[in-house]
Amino acid sequence: MDFNITLLPGDGVGPEIIDSAVAVLAAIEQKFGHNFHMHRMNIGGSAIDSTGVPLPKDTLEDCKAADAVLLGAVGGPKWDGLAAHLKPEKGLLSLRSGLGLFANLRPAVLHSELLSASPLNQSLAKKGVDIMIVRELTGGIYFGERGYRDGALGQEAYDTEVYSINEIERIAKIAFEIASTRGKHVTSVDKANVLETSRLWRATVNRVAKSYPSVKVEHMLVDNCAMQLVKDPSQFDVILTTNMFGDIISDEAAAITGSIGMLPSSSLGANNKGLYEPIHGSAPDIAGRDEVNPIATILASAMMLSTSLKLFDEAMAIENAVHRVLAKGFRTKDIACGKKSVGCARMTEEIALAILNM
Ligand code: IPM
Ligand code: MG
Repeated sequence: MDFNITLLPGDGVGPEIIDSAVAVLAAIEQKFGHNFHMHRMNIGGSAIDSTGVPLPKDTLEDCKAADAVLLGAVGGPKWDGLAAHLKPEKGLLSLRSGLGLFANLRPAVLHSELLSASPLNQSLAKKGVDIMIVRELTGGIYFGERGYRDGALGQEAYDTEVYSINEIERIAKIAFEIASTRGKHVTSVDKANVLETSRLWRATVNRVAKSYPSVKVEHMLVDNCAMQLVKDPSQFDVILTTNMFGDIISDEAAAITGSIGMLPSSSLGANNKGLYEPIHGSAPDIAGRDEVNPIATILASAMMLSTSLKLFDEAMAIENAVHRVLAKGFRTKDIACGKKSVGCARMTEEIALAILNM
């Protein structure tokens, strides 16, 4: 079959990991007889350098027309000094809201091959980590009113968090739907002892929960959740939370699985169209050194195949290839625990080969 895929390499390690995903997708094309029409568009700092804005109009239009979008990463110290509306990160935020991608799914899985790379003590690690973080992505403090003003003590800055019942309902439904197909347990994470938006969040989640009687719902304050994630992550199945808390909690969940270099994510809207990306950022310190772990982006391309393109066997082939290569002992530096490691290019080659040899 033919599919149209927009690639957004972005900044830092972004171009390297997108090249890796393209190599793996080429192996899938060859093995399964598909045509992925993949083309690169500008976003982030590299778009600022070439066009003056972090999300050029033609990039957004191209993404809207594509079957799916695969993104590397945006940002870097080169663009730190720019005004907020011109920062590379603004390109990603505008893309998420421009495509209406309100649901961000971040699976945090501790692969059995990587138990020793996890900072958890080994008896905890052996209990397993398999969490689906469902993060609201187009609302909350990321998109509320912000600015500078004169306050009682002089100039001050402010950001505001706003959530409508509608926004909470639609993301909660997604969390409950996903939980129905997994461990049937939603932990909704908020700060209801302090924030008004969290109290509305909690009440709305409870109402949505009534339509899913087979799913257990639990509420947890975000500070406690941060602690429980390192004390006993095996207690979690689906974590449902806001944009801001989801950003923080997903990095923590990623770290306990051994490396943030392993975790993919998908961002979805009302239809099946989606944006797929690794959870990690642009890692400018290792950019261009063939050191980055490509697995998060390769697994993001697998999510893209199953979710947006409905190519389930093909997605499974990528996941199996990753497991085989890890089981054979190949490790990038971030998951090598100080032992022998391979570069990004070699890791990619091994995964593509594993697909071709299946
Ligand atoms: C993420 C990133 C982004 C976010 C940044 C780059 C804007 O940290 O996807 O988690 O905060 O959402
Ligand atoms: Mg983040």
